Amino acid sequence: MGQKTEISNLLANLPRLGAGLTYHEPFLADLLQKQPEVDFLEVHGDRYLDAPPARMDELAMLAEHFTVIPHFTGLSLGSAEGLDAVYLENVAHLIKQLKSPWWSEHIGYTRANGILLGQPAPLPFTKEGIEVMTRNIVTARRAIAAPLILENVFGPLVWPGSEMDPARFIGEVLGFGGVGLLLDVADLFTYAPGLGIDPIKLLDRLPLDRVVQVHFSSSHDSQADSSESRVQPVAEGVWQLLNAVVTRAPVRCLCLELNDNPPPLGDALKEVERARTVGRQYKRWN
Ligand SMILES: [Fe+2]
Repeated sequence: MGQKTEISNLLANLPRLGAGLTYHEPFLADLLQKQPEVDFLEVHGDRYLDAPPARMDELAMLAEHFTVIPHFTGLSLGSAEGLDAVYLENVAHLIKQLKSPWWSEHIGYTRANGILLGQPAPLPFTKEGIEVMTRNIVTARRAIAAPLILENVFGPLVWPGSEMDPARFIGEVLGFGGVGLLLDVADLFTYAPGLGIDPIKLLDRLPLDRVVQVHFSSSHDSQADSSESRVQPVAEGVWQLLNAVVTRAPVRCLCLELNDNPPPLGDALKEVERARTVGRQYKRWN
């Protein structure tokens, strides 16, 4: 069986989760009461790699009530120096504990020459970037049985020396790596124009058959003033892109991505419900 068929089969068998959101600790009490309104939770996986017992107990309790998908930033699959073996082992252990149907990281890097960046930075769109990503993805997939999906990171920077357009770069990373796509439509909405591409045109050139999960948010830029993102609803342009993805791709879930200073859970759940309805409309789930 060719690698392409193998990955298609793997992704086709993933559960259709529906609509959910990023977990934040202030949500806890409310979440348990509003369980039917949340189809899954995404957690910041890095927070649980060296966590105190109380935080791990809370995570175990969440996993009893919800499907939990860990989203990581610290593995740094785009680092030329390779992966941190201890970090990778800890990631593998957490995913096993959670019994997650898949896990996610970024097409980018958070570590360069030993310096930690905090947020994933985009790679230049080069053959070397594809080779580095592929090498590290292969290592990660050997260590972790659950399917890996990778998130687009465009950012405001266009690296000089890029050798191809972003869609081809992403397509080749996913193709050689044998992984799915976590498509962040807010990232696409915010940064595609700066790359000189209409977001819908870029969308249509991405390998949409690989989309497993979608991130949508009110303000993608986590370095932006987060007190502002707290009160802003998801922009209509982001909803339009989300709709466009759901019509075109076999999405398994839509995740309202909430960074620091999340809104009250009730406000967030209104956005989650709207996303769930879009997925239902296109028969992605019941
Ligand atoms: Fe995202």
